[in-house]
Amino acid sequence: MKLLITGGAGYIGSHAAHQLVDEGHQVVVVDSLYSGHRWAVPERARFVEGNVADTALMERVLREEAIEAVLHFAAHVEVGESVADPAKYYRNNTLASLGLFEACVRTGVGRVIFSSTAAVYGEPTSDAALTENSPLLPVNPYGASKLMSERMLADLSRAAGGRLSYVILRYFNAAGARGDLRVGQATPRATHLVKIAAETALGQRDSITVHGTDYPTADGTCLRDYIHIDDLVQAHIDALKYLEGGGASDIFNVGYGHASSVLEVIAAMSRVSGSEIRMVKGPRRAGDPSVVLSDNQKIRRVLGWQPRFDDLDLICRTAFEWEKILQSKKKVSNADKRTHDSFNR
Ligand SMILES: NC(=O)c1ccc[n+]([C@@H]2O[C@H](COP(=O)([O-])OP(=O)(O)OC[C@H]3O[C@@H](n4cnc5c(N)ncnc54)[C@H](O)[C@@H]3O)[C@@H](O)[C@H]2O)c1
Repeated sequence: MKLLITGGAGYIGSHAAHQLVDEGHQVVVVDSLYSGHRWAVPERARFVEGNVADTALMERVLREEAIEAVLHFAAHVEVGESVADPAKYYRNNTLASLGLFEACVRTGVGRVIFSSTAAVYGEPTSDAALTENSPLLPVNPYGASKLMSERMLADLSRAAGGRLSYVILRYFNAAGARGDLRVGQATPRATHLVKIAAETALGQRDSITVHGTDYPTADGTCLRDYIHIDDLVQAHIDALKYLEGGGASDIFNVGYGHASSVLEVIAAMSRVSGSEIRMVKGPRRAGDPSVVLSDNQKIRRVLGWQPRFDDLDLICRTAFEWEKILQSKKKVSNADKRTHDSFNR
């Protein structure tokens, strides 16, 4: 199939791009390189450096490349930043998505897979697993910007009367790296626990702060549903097949349905890296619920999704091995910069 991947130079989008190219699809990546990297895009994909907000560009790419389905990953993803600068999030995540969805309708692209997030649920009122029908009460502009995009996509699809079908995937905590380590997470300023634990294990950070040790959980720290990136990518492949087979537009949670605590993640990283990870106890962060857990029965039943890498040690091992590669990439690029500077002097 001829696919457009927005944000295909970022963490999740680049993993999807590699897997889809490997599976024989023709892939075009559009990415502004705001937080993504050119090297993360597979060589066999066509790369267009551009902004999703540039609707004319998006429409041209959709038409010229005769795109059959769009996987829309491009977004700003920092929750804290979204609180400080909400307009940036509504502009990039909501307005730019609206332009893209409209361009899909205008150019006759029939299928869209949209990256949404568990943040659309806000703070769960109980520790029970979240189903797709749980209340949608985002507590920050990031979650709200994604929820609005979900709604717009559903409304545009309905108005297009069957000419545009979609799958919305609400990811829980994506983590780890591709099994063959071709790509991994390299998002600047990433605040994801598994990545920070890997950086600390490698000595790039002195310690890791545990935000809140007095939660009503077994060890007092927050529980999250970590999902290996390869299983997350597989959900997109299953969603594409589902839409290709005439499946109705729908929304699915993507998580394992069980959660690990902050201390369990740190212990797993320590085990797989062989390094002691220094922890500092910190206060709770505002808006951090004690448990965020997916109910994944619907995606298993409707899309036939079957996770294969549900193993915290494997998640941490791939994240750690990737972090080592990333460090050496950074060293090479710093050395390149120094050589370049000395030429310019
Ligand atoms: N990482 C997670 O755990 C997680 C969880 C839930 C949802 N998500 C969603 O998954 C998607 C991908 O997240 P990620 O973790 O890979 O983030 P990322 O920052 O690594 O990737 C986002 C990519 O989009 C690009 N981009 C951003 N705005 C753009 C624009 N206007 N035009 C073109 N390119 C643009 C960036 O340069 C980057 O390459 C996002 O939509 C995010 O909301 C991620």
